[in-house]
Amino acid sequence: MKVSAEILNLVPYKPGKPIGETQREYGLTEVHKLASNENPLGPSPKVIEALLAALKQQNLYPDPSCYDLVKKISEKWNVPTSQVAIGNGSNEIIDLLIRIFCEPNDAILTSQAAFVAYQVCAQAARVKVRTVPLRSDLTIDLKGLADHFFRNPTANIRIIFIPNPNNPTGTSVGGEELDEFLVRLGNRDDVLLVFDEAYTEYVRSPKFKAASQFYQNYSNVIVLKTFSKVYGMAGLRLGVILAPEYVLEFYNRVRNPFNVNDLAQVAATAVLDDETYIQQSQKLTWEGLDYFYKELTRLQLPFVRSDANFVLFDTQRNANICFENLLKKGIILRPVGNYGFPTHLRMTVGKAPENKKAIEAIEKMLTEVPKIS
Ligand SMILES: Cc1ncc(COP(=O)(O)O)c(C=O)c1O
Repeated sequence: MKVSAEILNLVPYKPGKPIGETQREYGLTEVHKLASNENPLGPSPKVIEALLAALKQQNLYPDPSCYDLVKKISEKWNVPTSQVAIGNGSNEIIDLLIRIFCEPNDAILTSQAAFVAYQVCAQAARVKVRTVPLRSDLTIDLKGLADHFFRNPTANIRIIFIPNPNNPTGTSVGGEELDEFLVRLGNRDDVLLVFDEAYTEYVRSPKFKAASQFYQNYSNVIVLKTFSKVYGMAGLRLGVILAPEYVLEFYNRVRNPFNVNDLAQVAATAVLDDETYIQQSQKLTWEGLDYFYKELTRLQLPFVRSDANFVLFDTQRNANICFENLLKKGIILRPVGNYGFPTHLRMTVGKAPENKKAIEAIEKMLTEVPKIS
């Protein structure tokens, strides 16, 4: 069977190594996974309660319009219901946006070392991927993205993806740079500006501005949110798109009618009412990040200050060897060589005792894996 070159060359998304697999491979009982930017608190108690009650109705198809959830999001986030739609994780929404708005040989534009799903989804749809370099402080170069768009009018760039904050760098953009970007590219009818805001609840940078606050002023700005991070529902798969009505009309036409299962809808509706859980998740993350900064400074390992729930740090060693070494110690981190960082690891904030174990394992690893001179 003939397969296109794009599919033949597609490097699939590589998720964090599962705990069970690590236990089996290394004969370990205690394993801590700080590799997938999940919420270490477990699901909100309100979610568990709502899920248990909803189990009895699982013989029925889910509500294809996600009516209750859309209404709840509209109330909580102060957005019109007509500008909200739901996906099976934000990953599905990324995939659908590319399929809807790009034709084969059109292009998407994003930053170097941006969240890799944009590239995987584009390539699967035979759409070209164009990137601009990160700035030296590992922030996304918004001016560079706009310059690239205007310098390449024949590239058919249909969507610009801005992960804000970005994964795996943890950096965010905002301030005047963002204002200028929107002046130059906002309200155009030939390109969509997609702000992927998976981690905004963890942001502490004063310059940051959430696109959910300004997308309504533009006809081509889209916001993606996920319930996999601060809302602690990665396993249930639920993402949200906030967008102008015409975008959602196409989105709802193309998505599968039952793309979001009932349990995910019920859980997301419940967690939005659990302010305490959301605040606990934020507090745990910020304390964990500050602990990591202190310890990485002590270990003299350079790191990037993060507006997300993970930190990218430089092992100054071959990161794949460091990763393997840490696996044997029961700590799963994430190597990020595929993003162009061969000596870095990404470490998600866990509960305080896990964070301590991770740092102890790293400290030992530093004495076992040779430094690159
Ligand atoms: C920037 C960014 N966007 C989107 C996602 C995907 O989220 P979801 O679990 O909703 O598919 C992730 C997951 O890590 C992410 O880092």
